[in-house]
Amino acid sequence: MDILSLIKARRSVRRFQTIPFPEELLTRMLEAGQAAPTAGNVQPWQFFVVRNREKQAQLADAALGQTWILSAPVIIVVCADLARSRSSYGRRGSELYAIQDSAAAIQNILLTATALGIASCWVGAFREELAAQLIGVDGQNMRPVALIPLGYAAEPTAAPPKRALGEIVEYID
Ligand SMILES: Cc1cc2nc3c(=O)[nH]c(=O)nc-3n(C[C@H](O)[C@H](O)[C@H](O)COP(=O)(O)O)c2cc1C
Repeated sequence: MDILSLIKARRSVRRFQTIPFPEELLTRMLEAGQAAPTAGNVQPWQFFVVRNREKQAQLADAALGQTWILSAPVIIVVCADLARSRSSYGRRGSELYAIQDSAAAIQNILLTATALGIASCWVGAFREELAAQLIGVDGQNMRPVALIPLGYAAEPTAAPPKRALGEIVEYID
């Protein structure tokens, strides 16, 4: 599949088959996160792979009761290492680059999952402090940015409408 078709094929999936997927696929997704662009190559991220059912249930609670998350066999919590970015770039590092870098890593993970036939969703609505506590980090320095439930899709998901290019693009010639 060419890259644009892959990008367009990615969907936010919210129902998974509970069966696990091979470890090798998970490793490839993590490698994709690792390969993301990052300001000054600081790589201010940490990927927490949550497979423990009890922890997953607690994360679903932290995600404002999005219980559908629990049907996924794996959840990756992507954290922005604010302290790491701050030490190179000060406030711009911790407030902007760490988040942007982590978002790039998240998107790489989602796209690689799609390429490997694994469904995913970027979950951003959750109580950050609780999520940090659940994975055992200091949320002041290691900010949870997204939960990514991963698994085989339970059903096909239709593409939502996207704004037209004419509406979102302006050419300044
Ligand atoms: C920053 C961010 C936060 C999101 N948070 C959630 C969320 O908490 N729960 C959820 O079901 N989907 C969440 N989504 C997924 C969006 O709802 C989804 O990307 C959007 O509806 C477009 O659908 P698509 O991803 O299939 O193109 C989030 C996406 C982003 C980028």
